[in-house]
Amino acid sequence: MVINARITGTGSCVPSRVVSNHDLAKILNTSDEWIYQRSGIRERRHVDAGVAPSDLGAEAALKAIDAANLKPGDIDLLLVTTLSSEHTFPGTAAFIQRKLNLGTIPALDLRAQCSGFLYGLATARAFINSSQYRRVLLVSVEVQSRGLDFSDRGRDTAVLFGDGAGAVVIEQSSDVERGIMAVNLHSEGEHAEKLWVEYPSMAQSPHVSPEIVAEGGVFPKMDGKFVFKHAVSRLPEVVEETLNQLHLKSRDIDWWLFHQANLRINEHVAGLLNLPLAQCPSNIDRYGNCSSASIPILLDELVREGRVSSGQLLGMAAFGSGFTWGGAIVRW
Ligand code: UT7
Repeated sequence: MVINARITGTGSCVPSRVVSNHDLAKILNTSDEWIYQRSGIRERRHVDAGVAPSDLGAEAALKAIDAANLKPGDIDLLLVTTLSSEHTFPGTAAFIQRKLNLGTIPALDLRAQCSGFLYGLATARAFINSSQYRRVLLVSVEVQSRGLDFSDRGRDTAVLFGDGAGAVVIEQSSDVERGIMAVNLHSEGEHAEKLWVEYPSMAQSPHVSPEIVAEGGVFPKMDGKFVFKHAVSRLPEVVEETLNQLHLKSRDIDWWLFHQANLRINEHVAGLLNLPLAQCPSNIDRYGNCSSASIPILLDELVREGRVSSGQLLGMAAFGSGFTWGGAIVRW
Protein backbone atom coordinates (compact mmCIF):
# COMPACT_ATOMS: atom_id res chain seq x y z
CA MET A 1 0.00 0.00 0.00
CA VAL A 2 1.31 3.46 -0.87
CA ILE A 3 1.24 5.69 2.18
CA ASN A 4 0.42 9.33 1.74
CA ALA A 5 0.14 12.19 4.24
CA ARG A 6 -2.92 14.31 3.60
CA ILE A 7 -4.29 17.46 5.27
CA THR A 8 -7.84 16.54 6.27
CA GLY A 9 -8.83 19.51 8.42
CA THR A 10 -7.83 23.13 9.00
CA GLY A 11 -8.59 25.64 11.75
CA SER A 12 -7.47 29.04 12.94
CA CYS A 13 -7.97 31.50 15.76
CA VAL A 14 -6.99 35.13 16.04
CA PRO A 15 -7.61 37.40 19.05
CA SER A 16 -10.62 39.69 18.75
CA ARG A 17 -8.69 42.88 19.61
CA VAL A 18 -7.78 44.80 16.46
CA VAL A 19 -4.79 47.15 16.69
CA SER A 20 -4.60 49.46 13.68
CA ASN A 21 -1.62 51.37 12.38
CA HIS A 22 -3.36 54.52 13.65
CA ASP A 23 -3.53 53.00 17.14
CA LEU A 24 0.24 52.36 17.03
CA ALA A 25 0.88 55.88 15.75
CA LYS A 26 -0.63 57.15 19.03
CA ILE A 27 2.08 55.42 21.10
CA LEU A 28 5.00 55.31 18.64
CA ASN A 29 6.69 57.67 16.24
CA THR A 30 5.21 55.97 13.17
CA SER A 31 2.37 56.40 10.69
CA ASP A 32 -0.19 54.34 8.78
CA GLU A 33 1.48 55.53 5.58
CA TRP A 34 4.97 54.32 6.57
CA ILE A 35 3.76 50.93 7.76
CA TYR A 36 1.39 50.29 4.84
CA GLN A 37 3.76 51.42 2.11
CA ARG A 38 6.65 49.31 3.40
CA SER A 39 4.79 46.18 4.47
CA GLY A 40 1.14 46.12 3.32
CA ILE A 41 -0.04 45.96 6.95
CA ARG A 42 -3.10 47.99 8.02
CA GLU A 43 -3.87 46.27 11.31
CA ARG A 44 -2.98 43.23 13.44
CA ARG A 45 -4.52 41.36 16.36
CA HIS A 46 -3.20 41.46 19.94
CA VAL A 47 -4.30 39.17 22.76
CA ASP A 48 -6.02 40.56 25.82
CA ALA A 49 -4.76 40.00 29.36
CA GLY A 50 -5.21 36.41 30.50
CA VAL A 51 -5.01 34.83 27.03
CA ALA A 52 -2.10 32.42 26.55
CA PRO A 53 -0.59 31.03 23.32
CA SER A 54 -2.06 27.63 24.24
CA ASP A 55 -5.57 29.17 24.33
CA LEU A 56 -5.27 30.35 20.72
CA GLY A 57 -3.54 27.10 19.71
CA ALA A 58 -6.14 24.86 21.35
CA GLU A 59 -9.03 26.74 19.71
CA ALA A 60 -7.46 26.52 16.24
CA ALA A 61 -6.72 22.84 16.89
CA LEU A 62 -10.31 22.02 17.89
CA LYS A 63 -11.59 23.60 14.67
CA ALA A 64 -9.10 21.58 12.60
CA ILE A 65 -10.00 18.33 14.40
CA ASP A 66 -13.70 19.04 13.88
CA ALA A 67 -13.15 19.84 10.18
CA ALA A 68 -11.38 16.47 9.83
CA ASN A 69 -14.43 14.77 11.41
CA LEU A 70 -12.30 13.49 14.27
CA LYS A 71 -12.26 13.76 18.05
CA PRO A 72 -9.20 14.91 20.04
CA GLY A 73 -8.71 11.31 21.22
CA ASP A 74 -8.08 10.22 17.61
CA ILE A 75 -4.84 12.25 17.37
CA ASP A 76 -1.65 10.29 17.97
CA LEU A 77 1.05 12.99 17.68
CA LEU A 78 0.95 16.71 18.53
CA LEU A 79 3.47 19.03 16.87
CA VAL A 80 3.57 22.71 17.78
CA THR A 81 5.57 25.38 15.99
CA THR A 82 6.23 28.71 17.68
CA LEU A 83 8.86 31.38 18.25
CA SER A 84 6.83 32.86 21.11
CA SER A 85 6.71 29.96 23.53
CA GLU A 86 4.36 30.06 26.52
CA HIS A 87 7.33 29.41 28.84
CA THR A 88 11.04 28.65 28.42
CA PHE A 89 10.13 25.05 29.20
CA PRO A 90 8.19 22.85 28.89
CA GLY A 91 7.22 23.52 25.30
CA THR A 92 3.89 25.07 24.35
CA ALA A 93 2.85 21.61 23.12
CA ALA A 94 2.52 20.47 26.76
CA PHE A 95 -0.03 23.21 27.48
CA ILE A 96 -2.01 22.60 24.29
CA GLN A 97 -2.00 18.85 24.96
CA ARG A 98 -3.44 19.47 28.43
CA LYS A 99 -6.14 21.84 27.15
CA LEU A 100 -7.21 19.33 24.49
CA ASN A 101 -7.12 16.33 26.88
CA LEU A 102 -4.80 14.46 24.54
CA GLY A 103 -3.82 11.88 27.17
CA THR A 104 -0.22 10.66 26.88
CA ILE A 105 0.46 11.02 23.14
CA PRO A 106 3.83 12.60 22.31
CA ALA A 107 3.70 16.39 22.19
CA LEU A 108 6.66 18.45 21.05
CA ASP A 109 7.65 21.93 19.93
CA LEU A 110 9.55 22.58 16.72
CA ARG A 111 11.55 25.79 16.51
CA ALA A 112 12.02 27.05 12.98
CA GLN A 113 10.57 30.56 13.42
CA CYS A 114 8.59 31.86 10.42
CA SER A 115 9.23 28.65 8.45
CA GLY A 116 7.89 26.57 11.34
CA PHE A 117 4.69 25.44 9.63
CA LEU A 118 6.64 23.96 6.71
CA TYR A 119 9.10 22.28 9.09
CA GLY A 120 6.03 20.89 10.86
CA LEU A 121 4.49 19.61 7.62
CA ALA A 122 7.75 17.84 6.74
CA THR A 123 8.00 16.29 10.23
CA ALA A 124 4.38 15.13 10.22
CA ARG A 125 4.78 13.65 6.76
CA ALA A 126 7.95 11.77 7.75
CA PHE A 127 6.27 10.25 10.83
CA ILE A 128 3.22 9.28 8.75
CA ASN A 129 5.28 7.82 5.90
CA SER A 130 7.19 5.70 8.39
CA SER A 131 3.81 4.55 9.80
CA GLN A 132 4.86 5.50 13.33
CA TYR A 133 1.86 7.84 13.65
CA ARG A 134 -1.32 8.02 11.58
CA ARG A 135 -3.06 11.20 12.70
CA VAL A 136 -0.90 14.20 13.43
CA LEU A 137 -2.14 17.52 14.77
CA LEU A 138 0.11 20.40 13.73
CA VAL A 139 -0.50 23.68 15.55
CA SER A 140 1.37 26.88 14.69
CA VAL A 141 0.80 29.59 17.26
CA GLU A 142 2.31 32.97 18.03
CA VAL A 143 1.67 35.53 20.74
CA GLN A 144 4.24 38.12 19.80
CA SER A 145 2.57 41.29 21.08
CA ARG A 146 3.78 40.68 24.66
CA GLY A 147 7.41 40.53 23.53
CA LEU A 148 7.58 43.64 21.35
CA ASP A 149 9.19 46.96 22.20
CA PHE A 150 6.41 49.55 21.94
CA SER A 151 8.82 52.46 22.36
CA ASP A 152 10.41 54.35 19.46
CA ARG A 153 13.48 52.13 19.89
CA GLY A 154 11.48 49.11 18.74
CA ARG A 155 9.27 50.73 16.11
CA ASP A 156 10.92 48.88 13.21
CA THR A 157 9.69 45.51 14.51
CA ALA A 158 6.77 46.36 16.84
CA VAL A 159 4.60 47.45 13.89
CA LEU A 160 5.16 44.24 11.93
CA PHE A 161 4.20 41.33 14.16
CA GLY A 162 0.81 40.03 15.25
CA ASP A 163 -0.81 37.24 17.27
CA GLY A 164 -2.72 34.23 15.95
CA ALA A 165 -2.84 30.47 15.51
CA GLY A 166 -3.45 28.06 12.66
CA ALA A 167 -3.75 24.28 12.80
CA VAL A 168 -4.05 21.32 10.47
CA VAL A 169 -4.77 17.64 10.92
CA ILE A 170 -2.56 15.45 8.73
CA GLU A 171 -3.63 11.86 8.25
CA GLN A 172 -2.23 8.73 6.72
CA SER A 173 -4.06 8.00 3.50
CA SER A 174 -3.89 5.50 0.68
CA ASP A 175 -5.20 8.10 -1.78
CA VAL A 176 -2.14 8.47 -3.99
CA GLU A 177 -3.63 11.38 -5.90
CA ARG A 178 -3.80 13.80 -2.99
CA GLY A 179 -1.58 14.88 -0.11
CA ILE A 180 1.70 16.55 0.76
CA MET A 181 3.68 15.88 -2.41
CA ALA A 182 6.96 17.61 -1.57
CA VAL A 183 8.51 19.68 1.20
CA ASN A 184 12.00 21.18 0.99
CA LEU A 185 13.66 22.73 4.02
CA HIS A 186 16.77 24.85 4.44
CA SER A 187 18.57 26.86 7.06
CA GLU A 188 21.64 29.06 7.31
CA GLY A 189 22.68 29.67 10.92
CA GLU A 190 25.41 32.03 9.77
CA HIS A 191 22.79 34.79 9.84
CA ALA A 192 21.21 33.90 13.19
CA GLU A 193 21.75 37.38 14.64
CA LYS A 194 20.15 39.22 11.70
CA LEU A 195 16.71 38.60 13.21
CA TRP A 196 16.71 37.43 16.78
CA VAL A 197 15.86 37.94 20.44
CA GLU A 198 19.19 37.76 22.27
CA TYR A 199 18.03 37.40 25.89
CA PRO A 200 17.33 35.45 28.07
CA SER A 201 20.41 33.56 26.87
CA MET A 202 21.93 30.43 28.36
CA ALA A 203 25.12 31.41 26.50
CA GLN A 204 25.49 34.48 28.74
CA SER A 205 25.98 35.09 32.42
CA PRO A 206 23.74 36.49 33.74
CA HIS A 207 21.26 34.99 31.33
CA VAL A 208 19.12 38.10 31.87
CA SER A 209 19.28 41.08 34.24
CA PRO A 210 17.38 44.31 34.97
CA GLU A 211 20.07 46.16 32.94
CA ILE A 212 19.59 43.86 29.94
CA VAL A 213 15.83 44.37 30.14
CA ALA A 214 16.26 48.16 30.41
CA GLU A 215 18.52 48.15 27.34
CA GLY A 216 15.91 46.25 25.34
CA GLY A 217 17.92 43.01 25.08
CA VAL A 218 14.78 40.91 25.45
CA PHE A 219 13.14 42.42 22.35
CA PRO A 220 13.49 41.35 18.71
CA LYS A 221 16.26 42.94 16.67
CA MET A 222 16.24 42.82 12.90
CA ASP A 223 18.46 44.03 10.11
CA GLY A 224 15.40 44.59 7.91
CA LYS A 225 17.15 45.30 4.62
CA PHE A 226 19.44 42.28 4.98
CA VAL A 227 16.49 39.98 5.78
CA PHE A 228 14.47 41.42 2.88
CA LYS A 229 17.33 40.81 0.43
CA HIS A 230 17.77 37.19 1.49
CA ALA A 231 14.01 36.51 1.54
CA VAL A 232 13.53 37.65 -2.06
CA SER A 233 16.31 35.38 -3.27
CA ARG A 234 15.69 32.28 -1.11
CA LEU A 235 11.92 32.16 -1.68
CA PRO A 236 12.05 31.88 -5.50
CA GLU A 237 14.93 29.43 -5.15
CA VAL A 238 12.99 27.03 -2.93
CA VAL A 239 9.83 27.40 -5.04
CA GLU A 240 11.80 26.39 -8.16
CA GLU A 241 13.46 23.52 -6.29
CA THR A 242 10.09 22.15 -5.18
CA LEU A 243 8.43 22.57 -8.59
CA ASN A 244 11.39 20.89 -10.33
CA GLN A 245 11.32 17.98 -7.92
CA LEU A 246 7.77 17.19 -9.06
CA HIS A 247 8.37 18.15 -12.71
CA LEU A 248 5.78 20.91 -12.40
CA LYS A 249 5.70 24.45 -13.77
CA SER A 250 4.55 27.45 -11.76
CA ARG A 251 1.44 27.71 -13.98
CA ASP A 252 0.35 24.25 -12.72
CA ILE A 253 -0.18 25.62 -9.20
CA ASP A 254 -3.66 26.92 -8.34
CA TRP A 255 -2.83 28.82 -5.14
CA TRP A 256 0.39 30.22 -3.71
CA LEU A 257 0.46 30.55 0.06
CA PHE A 258 3.45 32.62 1.02
CA HIS A 259 4.54 33.52 4.52
CA GLN A 260 2.98 36.88 5.36
CA ALA A 261 6.08 38.85 6.44
CA ASN A 262 5.76 41.69 4.00
CA LEU A 263 3.42 42.17 1.04
CA ARG A 264 6.27 43.83 -0.86
CA ILE A 265 8.42 40.69 -0.47
CA ASN A 266 5.60 38.51 -1.81
CA GLU A 267 4.86 40.86 -4.72
CA HIS A 268 8.54 40.86 -5.59
CA VAL A 269 8.73 37.05 -5.47
CA ALA A 270 5.53 36.71 -7.52
CA GLY A 271 7.02 39.09 -10.09
CA LEU A 272 10.27 37.10 -10.31
CA LEU A 273 8.37 33.83 -10.77
CA ASN A 274 5.67 35.30 -13.03
CA LEU A 275 2.86 34.31 -10.66
CA PRO A 276 -0.51 36.06 -11.06
CA LEU A 277 -1.18 38.06 -7.87
CA ALA A 278 -4.80 36.81 -7.93
CA GLN A 279 -3.39 33.37 -7.12
CA CYS A 280 -1.31 34.68 -4.20
CA PRO A 281 -3.90 35.40 -1.48
CA SER A 282 -2.82 37.63 1.37
CA ASN A 283 -4.08 38.54 4.83
CA ILE A 284 -1.12 40.57 6.06
CA ASP A 285 -3.24 43.75 5.83
CA ARG A 286 -5.47 42.35 8.62
CA TYR A 287 -3.09 40.26 10.75
CA GLY A 288 0.46 41.51 10.17
CA ASN A 289 3.26 38.97 10.37
CA CYS A 290 2.08 36.04 12.52
CA SER A 291 5.38 34.18 11.99
CA SER A 292 4.81 30.40 11.86
CA ALA A 293 1.01 30.83 12.10
CA SER A 294 0.75 32.96 8.94
CA ILE A 295 0.51 30.17 6.34
CA PRO A 296 -1.95 27.94 8.24
CA ILE A 297 -4.22 30.91 9.03
CA LEU A 298 -4.20 31.84 5.34
CA LEU A 299 -4.86 28.23 4.36
CA ASP A 300 -7.79 27.96 6.76
CA GLU A 301 -9.31 31.17 5.39
CA LEU A 302 -9.06 29.91 1.81
CA VAL A 303 -10.57 26.55 2.71
CA ARG A 304 -13.45 28.03 4.75
CA GLU A 305 -14.23 30.51 1.98
CA GLY A 306 -14.60 27.50 -0.32
CA ARG A 307 -11.86 28.71 -2.64
CA VAL A 308 -9.81 25.50 -2.59
CA SER A 309 -11.30 22.57 -4.43
CA SER A 310 -10.40 18.92 -4.42
CA GLY A 311 -7.49 18.13 -6.75
CA GLN A 312 -6.10 21.66 -6.79
CA LEU A 313 -2.38 22.23 -6.24
CA LEU A 314 -1.20 24.52 -3.45
CA GLY A 315 2.32 25.91 -3.39
CA MET A 316 3.71 27.19 -0.08
CA ALA A 317 6.92 29.00 0.84
CA ALA A 318 8.30 30.74 3.91
CA PHE A 319 11.45 32.50 5.04
CA GLY A 320 12.44 33.70 8.48
CA SER A 321 14.79 33.98 11.41
CA GLY A 322 17.60 31.43 11.60
CA PHE A 323 17.68 31.92 8.68
CA THR A 324 15.24 29.15 7.86
CA TRP A 325 13.24 28.72 4.70
CA GLY A 326 11.20 26.09 2.96
CA GLY A 327 8.76 25.25 0.21
CA ALA A 328 5.94 22.72 -0.14
CA ILE A 329 3.45 21.50 -2.72
CA VAL A 330 0.19 19.95 -1.60
CA ARG A 331 -2.50 18.35 -3.80
CA TRP A 332 -5.82 19.16 -2.08
O1 UT7 B 1 9.08 37.15 9.11
C1 UT7 B 1 10.47 37.12 9.15
C2 UT7 B 1 11.09 37.75 8.00
N1 UT7 B 1 11.03 39.19 8.09
C3 UT7 B 1 11.08 39.89 6.98
O2 UT7 B 1 11.07 39.32 5.92
C4 UT7 B 1 11.16 41.40 7.06
C5 UT7 B 1 12.12 41.90 6.00
N2 UT7 B 1 12.35 43.36 6.02
C6 UT7 B 1 11.39 44.24 5.68
O3 UT7 B 1 10.29 43.85 5.39
C7 UT7 B 1 11.73 45.73 5.63
O4 UT7 B 1 13.11 45.86 5.80
C8 UT7 B 1 10.99 46.57 6.71
C9 UT7 B 1 9.52 46.72 6.34
C10 UT7 B 1 11.11 45.90 8.06
C11 UT7 B 1 11.59 47.97 6.84
O5 UT7 B 1 11.62 48.62 5.58
P1 UT7 B 1 12.94 49.38 5.07
O6 UT7 B 1 12.62 50.04 3.82
O7 UT7 B 1 14.05 48.35 5.04
O8 UT7 B 1 13.16 50.46 6.17
P2 UT7 B 1 14.46 50.74 7.06
O9 UT7 B 1 14.57 49.75 8.15
O10 UT7 B 1 15.65 50.95 6.19
O11 UT7 B 1 14.08 52.14 7.69
C12 UT7 B 1 13.90 53.31 6.88
C13 UT7 B 1 13.64 54.49 7.77
C14 UT7 B 1 14.66 54.66 8.87
O12 UT7 B 1 14.85 56.03 9.05
P3 UT7 B 1 16.15 56.77 8.41
O13 UT7 B 1 17.33 56.06 8.97
O14 UT7 B 1 16.01 56.59 6.93
O15 UT7 B 1 15.99 58.18 8.85
C15 UT7 B 1 13.99 54.10 10.08
O16 UT7 B 1 14.46 54.66 11.28
O17 UT7 B 1 12.37 54.32 8.44
C16 UT7 B 1 12.55 54.47 9.86
N3 UT7 B 1 11.59 53.60 10.53
C17 UT7 B 1 10.32 53.94 10.75
N4 UT7 B 1 9.63 55.06 10.46
C18 UT7 B 1 8.34 55.09 10.79
C19 UT7 B 1 11.80 52.34 11.00
N5 UT7 B 1 10.65 51.87 11.54
C20 UT7 B 1 9.72 52.84 11.39
C21 UT7 B 1 8.37 52.94 11.72
N6 UT7 B 1 7.71 54.08 11.40
N7 UT7 B 1 7.68 51.92 12.32
